[in-house]
Amino acid sequence: MLQVEGLTKYFGGVAAVDHVSFTVPEGSIYALIGPNGAGKTTVFNLITGVLPPDSGKISLKDCRLNGLNPSQIAAAGVARTFQNLQLFGSMTVLENVVTGAYLRGSMGFVRSMVRRPGISPEDRALMQYSLGLLSEVGLSDKAGWPAGRLPFGQQRLLEIARALASCPSLLLLDEPAAGLNTGETRELTGFLKRLKEKGLTIILVEHDMDTVMEVADSILVLDFGRVIFEGTPVEVQANPEVIRAYLGEEDEEC
Ligand SMILES: Nc1ncnc2c1ncn2[C@@H]1O[C@H](COP(=O)(O)OP(=O)(O)O)[C@@H](O)[C@H]1O
Ligand SMILES: [Mg+2]
Repeated sequence: MLQVEGLTKYFGGVAAVDHVSFTVPEGSIYALIGPNGAGKTTVFNLITGVLPPDSGKISLKDCRLNGLNPSQIAAAGVARTFQNLQLFGSMTVLENVVTGAYLRGSMGFVRSMVRRPGISPEDRALMQYSLGLLSEVGLSDKAGWPAGRLPFGQQRLLEIARALASCPSLLLLDEPAAGLNTGETRELTGFLKRLKEKGLTIILVEHDMDTVMEVADSILVLDFGRVIFEGTPVEVQANPEVIRAYLGEEDEEC
């Protein structure tokens, strides 16, 4: 689904992403892990066109993403959520999901801003589809709430629903479990598995190792912008370098 080759991004003299290569098979959950500052969010910003890479190649199936702008990349089928939530707090939960569909570009953003009497069949279909997504994340009964009034965990789920509204073929999730309680994290884990069963390809940046180890097919470990290991959850947990650079962190603190 996604192929990244030699991806490099400097900020000043520091390589935030340093010759990173990986391939994400279609229908898999591929995790990116590593300490804070390892370059994970920057990889997402490069894939989504928010930042231009200094070098390297990014391809979604046969489509070269380098050089495309963020809306073209969204239209090609890439959707994301953010480490720091970026919802429209005063818009309703349902409206937030509907905006996600416009990101794909098929509905025409300008046309959507033009006032028309009544609701067109297209808009009605879009709302039905968005309500279906809300039901999948357990938020149907809150469709009319201002998004900013949802508890934090539900805002994270809403952001995923909004990303899904664009019908992506690749979904990038940046720390979706951050700030969630144990029950919410379990719900999220189940939801990610259901998305995978439906054939969606996901790249997951996450610090919650229980979630990563449970859902990921493969894991790429980054440190100081460089790949230090790639493997299955079992292989990653057994690798001494990964334990030293990352998984051992908590033990050292104890
Ligand atoms: N827009 C930016 N300008 C300058 N430095 C940045 C920018 N974004 C990230 N960085 C730096 O790049 C490195 C990687 O950051 P980031 O990708 O956010 O790491 P992670 O998501 O793994 O915690 C860090 O040293 C960070 O300070
Ligand atoms: Mg980050």
